Amino acid sequence: MPAIVSRGQRFLGCAMRGKLVVGNWKMNGGLRQNDALLAELRVGWAAPPTRELAVCVPYPYLWQAQAALSGSAIAWGAQNVSEHAGGAFTGEVSAAMVAEFGCRYAIVGHSERRALYGESDAVVAAKADAALAAGLTPVVCVGETLAEREAGTTEVVVLRQLDAVAARLGGRIGAVVIAYEPVWAIGTGRTASPAEAQAVHRLLRRRLGSVDAAAAEVPLLYGGSVKADNAKALFAGADIDGALVGGASLKADEFLAIAHA
Ligand code: PGA
Repeated sequence: MPAIVSRGQRFLGCAMRGKLVVGNWKMNGGLRQNDALLAELRVGWAAPPTRELAVCVPYPYLWQAQAALSGSAIAWGAQNVSEHAGGAFTGEVSAAMVAEFGCRYAIVGHSERRALYGESDAVVAAKADAALAAGLTPVVCVGETLAEREAGTTEVVVLRQLDAVAARLGGRIGAVVIAYEPVWAIGTGRTASPAEAQAVHRLLRRRLGSVDAAAAEVPLLYGGSVKADNAKALFAGADIDGALVGGASLKADEFLAIAHA
């Protein structure tokens, strides 16, 4: 029987349990400011052996992230990919195109894409599939809205979102990263408490564990107003393996402080 690979081994090639911190720049940036930010990250990232840092940038800057971060310990990725492999899909970008720029990650199913661009659970699952097929690690986002939380349906919503991806990927679900991002905590300054976040992570971990041993070890990131001053408490959660960071990933010192927390 193969040894169960720990979450640490999964993404860091070492035996210790690790943390993964992924920046999501969203639609922010510009050539000059990116140069400064990427250089500061490269210089400032001490790359402790149990931590991995990554930035997910707008498509036009993938080459810039590749140029600035190649040979460093910082990975990079995209914020979306098409569910299609190629063809007549004007304005879309395939996972294979993204992979050509040395990306390790692609965020899929971010709540902004679900809400603003109508991405269904099925589309998100297809995007995760496309990313994996191109050799990328999809960072699949799940999370409930404030109305859903207040209606007591958080568990139903996040499990529905997770199950759609698991049903599509089957045994390959063990190769993804999941980010739990309560929609009410994104960009609002309102963070889920460590206990609230851990409760949902535990639920997700149990569901993944029902698939197989590899799925049980999928890194589970928390996202939603993560800052340097709340990261440590969140990371203390037994099933919280890191963070997906929006606004705070645009400031090198803040982002690095989160990654070191
Ligand atoms: P935030 O965004 O950290 O600015 O809340 C997180 C995200 O949307 O990924």
